[in-house]
Amino acid sequence: MSKTLVAYFSASGVTAKVADMLAKAINADLYEIAPEVPYTKADLNWMDKKSRSSREVFPKISSEHGLKELYKRSFRYEKIN
Ligand SMILES: Cc1cc2nc3c(=O)[nH]c(=O)nc-3n(C[C@H](O)[C@H](O)[C@H](O)COP(=O)(O)O)c2cc1C
Repeated sequence: MSKTLVAYFSASGVTAKVADMLAKAINADLYEIAPEVPYTKADLNWMDKKSRSSREVFPKISSEHGLKELYKRSFRYEKIN
């Protein structure tokens, strides 16, 4: 057992590959954070503001307007198109 842990969540496998490479490079243990209910392809469609993943990232933001307001507050932009 290593004293270092690389814990990762990967929806599509991209982050999993990088986490695996990192863990090997630094001789760390590897742990996958897996959702209780697996994501479907539709769940992961981040272009769809109403998909499960979009709703989980921005639970209270359902409208395009609300999303832009959140970005403005988070990143301090005055205008977002
Ligand atoms: C919830 C979610 C949000 C995402 N948001 C963006 C984004 O804003 N811009 C982008 O270029 N890619 C976005 N992606 C695409 C991921 O960055 C890309 O698919 C990445 O390869 C995912 O790797 P992973 O599933 O191993 O974490 C998003 C993917 C998910 C699941």
